[in-house]
Amino acid sequence: MKPRGVLLAGNWKMNHGPKAAQDFFRALPYSKKPGATMRIYPSYLSLATALDSVSAAGRDIEIGAQNFHAEKSGAFTGEVSGPMLQEIGIHQVLLGHSERRQYFSETPAVILNKTVSALQQGFEVLLCIGETLDERKAGQTVEVLTHQLKSTLADPTCSAAFGTSLHLAYEPVWAIGTGVTATPAQAQATHASLRSLLTRSLGEISADAVQILYGGSVTPGNFGELLACPDIDGGLVGGASLKPESFGALWSLISS
Ligand code: 13P
Repeated sequence: MKPRGVLLAGNWKMNHGPKAAQDFFRALPYSKKPGATMRIYPSYLSLATALDSVSAAGRDIEIGAQNFHAEKSGAFTGEVSGPMLQEIGIHQVLLGHSERRQYFSETPAVILNKTVSALQQGFEVLLCIGETLDERKAGQTVEVLTHQLKSTLADPTCSAAFGTSLHLAYEPVWAIGTGVTATPAQAQATHASLRSLLTRSLGEISADAVQILYGGSVTPGNFGELLACPDIDGGLVGGASLKPESFGALWSLISS
């Protein structure tokens, strides 16, 4: 078993309304595995159904939100706040996803603000970072990731939460939804660089406790090899999390 445990997280993005969410959980093969956690991030609209589905089946599957607004309430048309999510039983949020950065103009400052607010409200945060293809080709991967994490590491709320309620997902932008996965060697090298960056900033004990998930075209065909890498603590999965068969197949690759 991995020292930090394994997290298999599915990010449904803008897929699966409540009916499809219910069908997914009905068909999902699941068995409890010590040291491993399964989590799904459905759309806001499907959160309540997902929670009901897992609790009705008595399953230990965590449900989290894909986003939230940093303010607790107010005139922010179309947004959902932390207290609203907590009212229905959501305590996990996914932040910093490259699609939020790219399509919704979420700057590092916005992401930091959301992260701090989420942590202060008692959420567990999975923070996504990743470089583009041009940045990788230019040999700037570690520099870009360091820059993306800089303000988070400098913030006292975040730095105190790393390894307990703040964890990372490394998602190279060029691997998301493209069918091109980072090789296990590429992913492990990047995860190891991230771990040493965390160690330099937070010290070894905290850095060692941070789960670093890999995301980007994870499938049942490549997950086993990725998971065998010492610094890869699980997967953040898009496309392959949408079908119960493929997500169940990923879960079955985690040794119990
Ligand atoms: P894919 O698994 O579809 O490449 O998506 C990865 C992702 O963005 C998960 O957050």
